[in-house]
Amino acid sequence: MQQPIRIAPSILSADFARLGDEIRALEAAGADYIHIDVMDGHFVPNLTIGPLVVKALRPHTTLPFDVHLMISPVDGFLDAFAEAGADIITVHPEAGPHLHRSLQRIKALGKKAGVSLNPATPAKALDYVLDLVDLVLVMSVNPGFGGQSFIDSQLRKIASIRKMIDATGRTIDLEVDGGIDPVTAVAAISAGADVLVAGTATFRGGSTAYASNIAGLRGA
Ligand code: DX5
Ligand code: ZN
Repeated sequence: MQQPIRIAPSILSADFARLGDEIRALEAAGADYIHIDVMDGHFVPNLTIGPLVVKALRPHTTLPFDVHLMISPVDGFLDAFAEAGADIITVHPEAGPHLHRSLQRIKALGKKAGVSLNPATPAKALDYVLDLVDLVLVMSVNPGFGGQSFIDSQLRKIASIRKMIDATGRTIDLEVDGGIDPVTAVAAISAGADVLVAGTATFRGGSTAYASNIAGLRGA
């Protein structure tokens, strides 16, 4: 069943010189998760945040850290991100040789496990792992950068994953990431998404606008 809409601001669009302040401001503005985009310059053409930064940010909020790993091979870093304070650890099927084993490891570390599907990756990739999954992240842009345009074909994928999730009878977040604004948020929610990642749309207008930006997406 589709759960209440949650907003997960991506700190990729934050002021990196003031990340701790930014995260406190997001919590005060009503964010539900803090989405942390981890990029390695190999799996995606950009470099961002490592476990040391996640650990440094951990004391600044009690909100769940939704850590989106865009790194390959990913397995060698799962423990480090768990120890750094991640609550949800999301991996891409293409980021290692054995997706099932990666998910088993995340669960063994006591964390929620997520699978992220690139725009060209079919929903079918979830078929034999959904029993281990707490969150499915549908990428509505190609991973690597904030500020890209929403890819409409992903709405069909969200709708088919909504059916797959409902058939399990379990509580699994269906998160959409990339190009979310008040217009695309409506489409994503109608298709069945219940967690919206938003970088550009959260941070637009500066810190005095965070609360209204987040409320606007939630009300979409
Ligand atoms: C892209 C990241 C996204 C990105 C979203 O690889 O996974 O989380 O920051 O940014 P916007 O909301 O600006 O598209
Ligand atoms: Zn992301």
